[in-house]
Amino acid sequence: MAGKLSKQKVLVIGGSKFLGLAIARRASEAGAEVVIGARNTELAAQAAANLPNASSIHLDITDESTIAAAAAKLGHVDHVVITASAHHNVAVKDLEHDKIVTAFEAKVIGPMLLAKHFAPILSPKGSILLFSGVAAWTPAPPYTVMGVTNGAVAFLVPQLAKELAPIRVNAISPGIIDSGTYDALGEQVKKEMFESVAKSSLVGRVGTSDDIADTALWLLGAGNVTGETIHVEGGARFA
Ligand SMILES: NC(=O)c1ccc[n+]([C@@H]2O[C@H](COP(=O)([O-])OP(=O)(O)OC[C@H]3O[C@@H](n4cnc5c(N)ncnc54)[C@H](OP(=O)(O)O)[C@@H]3O)[C@@H](O)[C@H]2O)c1
Repeated sequence: MAGKLSKQKVLVIGGSKFLGLAIARRASEAGAEVVIGARNTELAAQAAANLPNASSIHLDITDESTIAAAAAKLGHVDHVVITASAHHNVAVKDLEHDKIVTAFEAKVIGPMLLAKHFAPILSPKGSILLFSGVAAWTPAPPYTVMGVTNGAVAFLVPQLAKELAPIRVNAISPGIIDSGTYDALGEQVKKEMFESVAKSSLVGRVGTSDDIADTALWLLGAGNVTGETIHVEGGARFA
């Protein structure tokens, strides 16, 4: 049976792991031709090899030349999903200029340049899906850079949606999601953090990669939704 994204080409930047990989997998199951875009080409090729009808391409969202080269090579895409981020979670007194710039490049400047190079090759019925995050709405040290970059994404979305129309542009704003990115904290720290997060969520749990993949797949197919940031955080903003 043909899936919802049958014959659609979906580029997932950051698709070799975590939420990007979960979305790539789900898009692939829905019949899409998936392209995994990543700065680490080896990881991207490995991820693509595990999905049906998938390939990989070199794309570093902080490097415009790789964005332009990817657009030229692909020639046409229906949807682009960008999960890339660069973290600089430190107290204000410890901020470093270059790391702040890299965080903005990954989340805000890169997606703007992506729009520049990909709008001409995106299907008019296609879409761009960005990632914001709950830190934008819940100020808490040491997440100033994360909060402000995620907030900028939410403001970027309607700007791009208006200018690129009829191409749709949306974002997902996740709460804390057990995507794999927190595994680096170690089992015990991660467990304690997730217990605390669950308590400060209206639904009493941390998010799952499936929560995000469900929403991403819905947004890719939601032909009358554009300019929106969809909060997938169990009501964490109101807890
Ligand atoms: N998980 C959560 O709890 C949570 C909460 C709020 C918001 N979010 C947002 O959701 C998105 C996905 O998060 P995640 O949990 O999957 O973890 P993540 O650690 O933010 O994953 C980022 C992904 O982007 C890739 N990436 C980083 N820099 C890149 C660059 N310059 N060019 C291309 N790709 C790059 C990474 O791969 P490489 O490092 O191998 O290049 C990785 O695949 C992020 O934007 C994050 O801020 C997540």
